[in-house]
Amino acid sequence: MSILEMFQLNGKNALVTGSSRGLGAAIALALAEAGANVGCHGKSSQDAISGRICRLGKKSFYFSGDIADPTTHSSLIEKTITEFGSIDILVNNAGTIRRAPAAAFPQDYWDELIAVNLTAVFRLSQLAGQNMLDRGATGKILNIASLLSFQGGINVPAYAAAKGGVAQLTKALANEWAAKGINVNAIAPGYMATDNTEALRNDPDRSRQILERIPAGRWGEPGDVAGAALFLCSSASDYIHGHVMLVDGGWMGR
Ligand SMILES: NC(=O)c1ccc[n+]([C@@H]2O[C@H](COP(=O)([O-])OP(=O)(O)OC[C@H]3O[C@@H](n4cnc5c(N)ncnc54)[C@H](OP(=O)(O)O)[C@@H]3O)[C@@H](O)[C@H]2O)c1
Repeated sequence: MSILEMFQLNGKNALVTGSSRGLGAAIALALAEAGANVGCHGKSSQDAISGRICRLGKKSFYFSGDIADPTTHSSLIEKTITEFGSIDILVNNAGTIRRAPAAAFPQDYWDELIAVNLTAVFRLSQLAGQNMLDRGATGKILNIASLLSFQGGINVPAYAAAKGGVAQLTKALANEWAAKGINVNAIAPGYMATDNTEALRNDPDRSRQILERIPAGRWGEPGDVAGAALFLCSSASDYIHGHVMLVDGGWMGR
């Protein structure tokens, strides 16, 4: 296989959670451009992405479901297998954030963030992993972690706890499944210009402080994670297991 062929995803079937917008949309399009059929998902019913994938000549669908709801996990994996015949690539991207001082952090914020940002990642990985193991197939699971997998942040205790858990879960699953040919890795994006960071970018002081610390001198764009995601979902990364890859404009080097 040539080096360029290693990045091809022809014949592969992928599911990208939270791909209605933001980083997930960029990842879904990148996988489709590389040849994969890609199932898309979001909480709302607004689908801006699966039509674009179909126009690339690839199969796609859009599934709307709250991944805080445990019934969504099995429905989403079953839908992918029904539509495509198998699941070869799972990207656990859907995530949300709530900000409040720790001393006043509401219990319902905590419950929601752990359910969406951590529990769903485990359950979807477990269901996809079971399918890959049952078929004796190789596969790729890519989790979207965060700088707050490494750092504690301010006013984001549940998000930091969940994303720290995502990094550890990535390693735990990789240890069990690497020898079966299933790669489990993560991307830790830096500060990206999406709806997730709108509150930060609208705060002039926080926005300036953040920008001053990014060596690249700019906020990341959704397309900045696309290349790393394709690499970690392709054969080019077959010997990489349990890695949390920073895509952060150099933030963690400071
Ligand atoms: N932006 C950053 O700077 C940054 C940095 C580090 C890590 N991340 C992580 O990267 C991932 C994507 O973030 P983003 O910035 O692209 O966020 P975004 O623009 O806010 O998009 C979030 C996506 O997740 C979906 N989603 C959120 N809650 C959901 C739920 N309960 N059930 C089902 N789907 C849900 C949304 O669906 P709807 O469109 O239907 O609401 C949307 O597709 C997240 O895991 C986030 O934590 C982002």
